[in-house]
Amino acid sequence: MIAELTTALEPCPLPNFVETGFIQDLTYRALAYIEAGFPVHFRGTSGIGKTTLAMHVAGKLGRPVVLIHGDAEFTTSDLVGGENGYRMRKVIDRFVSRVLKVEEDMTKRWVDNRLTVACKYGFTLIYDEFTRSRPEANNVLLSVLQEGVMDMPANRCGEDNYLQVHPDFRAIFTSNPEEYAGVHRSQDALRDRMVTMDLDYFDEETEVVITKAKSGLPHKEVEKIVKIVRALRESGKCDFGPTPRGSIMIAKTLNVLNVPVRANNVVFRDICQDVLASETCRDRNKSIQSDIKAILDTLINQFS
Ligand SMILES: Nc1ncnc2c1ncn2[C@@H]1O[C@H](COP(=O)(O)OP(=O)(O)O)[C@@H](O)[C@H]1O
Ligand SMILES: [Mg+2]
Repeated sequence: MIAELTTALEPCPLPNFVETGFIQDLTYRALAYIEAGFPVHFRGTSGIGKTTLAMHVAGKLGRPVVLIHGDAEFTTSDLVGGENGYRMRKVIDRFVSRVLKVEEDMTKRWVDNRLTVACKYGFTLIYDEFTRSRPEANNVLLSVLQEGVMDMPANRCGEDNYLQVHPDFRAIFTSNPEEYAGVHRSQDALRDRMVTMDLDYFDEETEVVITKAKSGLPHKEVEKIVKIVRALRESGKCDFGPTPRGSIMIAKTLNVLNVPVRANNVVFRDICQDVLASETCRDRNKSIQSDIKAILDTLINQFS
């Protein structure tokens, strides 16, 4: 019971959540797919707002939320549960000196894991970065999403080998595009069972409002930062386009240091270079990085 209590989050509005028309449209459609019985999958580059949107949509459903982060080390029992409640009991025989007897008390205790908890009680599952887990570990989700049944490992003391999924169970997935290193190709069969919404970068207004809400910097200052970040993104020269996370990092740091967004401020220029030149390069490729630094120099002069 303790495991169950500790794994669910109460649905509540996110602090500083920004809801512009752009976000409302996404939320509206996602809720419609879920209502129609389809799990939703937010796909997009890191920093684009997938996890935050998933939490927001889950909050609207009003059920407790269970959060799982995909992990290459996962096995099915990490999702479903397992007999991982072994206890070790050390018995020291005090009558025979220097002899240490260790007796293992192999009490099997079934421990429900998060997916099981969500399916059993009809909670909302957010499976963040689900493609990071190996496809075999995620197989258990196929019948959960298709037939509303979850296969449980055999030998659970006296319990059924399958679990009927609660009618209120809902699922929201997120993933990064598949070309990302270290991300397994998501199984087509699993993806077939969900509606994939490809997230684009926020529109400019949304990016400004989010950066402002997260940093506390004045609107005018934030506008300039966002213009620099967006122009670098649109230059097409980066391995990875800088994300709204880049705008937020710069704005928050400037706020901490009380440094103005001015082209003639060396600290401001250095912070932009630190945050953006590294984030946008795949490796420490010197020639690409120096190209980006040069572009950034021009953009900083142009917009601030
Ligand atoms: N609608 C929003 N309102 C406020 N902040 C947001 C919103 N969307 C994203 N953010 C912020 O942008 C950053 C990146 O979002 P995140 O959800 O972590 O992206 P991802 O999961 O795609 O990597 C975070 O700091 C997050 O708090
Ligand atoms: Mg995320």
